[in-house]
Amino acid sequence: MTPHIEAQKGEIAPTVIMPGDPLRAKYIAENYLENVKLVSKVRNIYAYTGVYKGHTITVMASGMGIPSIGIYSYELYHEYNVQNIIRVGSCGTYTKDLNLYDVVLVNSCYSESSYLKVQSNLDDNELKSSQDLNLYITQAADKNNIPLTITKAYCTDVFYKKEDNYEEIKDKYGCLVCEMESFGLFANAKLLNKRATCLLTVSDSLITKEETTSEEREKSFNNMIKLALETAILL
Ligand code: HPA
Repeated sequence: MTPHIEAQKGEIAPTVIMPGDPLRAKYIAENYLENVKLVSKVRNIYAYTGVYKGHTITVMASGMGIPSIGIYSYELYHEYNVQNIIRVGSCGTYTKDLNLYDVVLVNSCYSESSYLKVQSNLDDNELKSSQDLNLYITQAADKNNIPLTITKAYCTDVFYKKEDNYEEIKDKYGCLVCEMESFGLFANAKLLNKRATCLLTVSDSLITKEETTSEEREKSFNNMIKLALETAILL
């Protein structure tokens, strides 16, 4: 047990698939895993351990934002000996080349967050995901015919800005999508010498202003979920 996770040691698998939303964790567990056990529900942040194609995997929610994923991923790595975390989330896009429901692999992220500075006294604003995990993800994507765009993400602390400066973020830092968790996850993986990466499904476009409903978001990310699970069984 940790302050935020009530699972016993041994009830969490070495590979964790981590959506932001607890209901998405429930959806993945109920629709993709066998022999599922709910191993933690502190603050309704559900964690389920079950079996996918013979491999034991945990699906646990992160909540929204860097501080939230920072807590849960730290405790998973540090207290439960988790080796791999694959975040599966949603993102906005800054390019017309990406459409709603496209799947994106984040190979690095840029953030103004102070998380890494406060945590490790490092001044970097960019962090990479695990190149090992990304290799397995691209293999699983090829094998399962799942189209994948590899790009850099902008990991922001602020969903509602006074003025959206996405053109600047895109031009200056090369970020084509935005989300709110990868920087905290990658910082923890770096600190603890573990592996982390991030898959995203495009849920809204800042160019066309199209967006998906929360119900669509919960249910229709199946390509990304399948890709994360098919990767997990290769690890
Ligand atoms: N901004 C930040 N995070 C997001 C967005 C967005 O527009 N869409 C999905 N996650």
